[in-house]
Amino acid sequence: MKIIVTEDYRSLSAKAFEIMKMAVNENPYAVLGLATGTTPLGLYRSMTEDHRENRTSYAHIRAVNLDEYIGLSQDHPQSYAYFMRENLFKGLDIEAENTYIENGTAQNAEAECERYNKLLENLPRDIQLLGLGSNGHIAFNEPGTPFGSDTHVVDLTPNTIKDNARLFKDISEVPNRAYTMGIRQIMQAKQVLILASGENKADAVYNTVCGGVTEEVPASVLQLHPNCILIADREAAGKL
Ligand code: GLP
Repeated sequence: MKIIVTEDYRSLSAKAFEIMKMAVNENPYAVLGLATGTTPLGLYRSMTEDHRENRTSYAHIRAVNLDEYIGLSQDHPQSYAYFMRENLFKGLDIEAENTYIENGTAQNAEAECERYNKLLENLPRDIQLLGLGSNGHIAFNEPGTPFGSDTHVVDLTPNTIKDNARLFKDISEVPNRAYTMGIRQIMQAKQVLILASGENKADAVYNTVCGGVTEEVPASVLQLHPNCILIADREAAGKL
């Protein structure tokens, strides 16, 4: 794993943008694996600015997201589908039909996981962007998730529900289940870019990089990926 430590969140986002832009420039038909959360917001802002100012085109890009809350429709303001439209897609020329995410209101959860697994099979990711949960989770793969997992339904841990409550009016509104791409599928991406910012990620960054490769720290699996870059700002890298 290549580790880049930046001075602050701004330079973390700038570095991440450089890498993402390279992937898009190299292959205008690239499949981007994308993530939600507050960490990629600076990168997404740079991507939309760059599209506006330099006309970098996403007309042929496909975007595949990691995860979605169960029970929230794609128009629900806290759904990840909504997040992606608001924070990225509406600022690019990407076609809506080229953006993919699990359906949080699917009738049959098993069939929905199957559908997503097939879709991932057909859309191998050129680059997979990841945030990092404070407990070391990636996407919604919580500690203990088998490294061989595919898309599945997760019962979110109390820690993750608490972390994510800041985006809801009240913690009671945070769904307690979600769909997530599995760890095996995250590892299939040609390149992985994981971002971590802030002091509350310092333990997770330390365990991801310096601890053993263990299912108790899902992100530690990335030590085994042949082309993974972790960008951490100084605070998140504080325990390295
Ligand atoms: C959620 C998402 C993850 C994300 C994590 C960290 O749990 N499912 O994909 O990486 O939050 O979020 P943040 O970047 O806001 O710290």
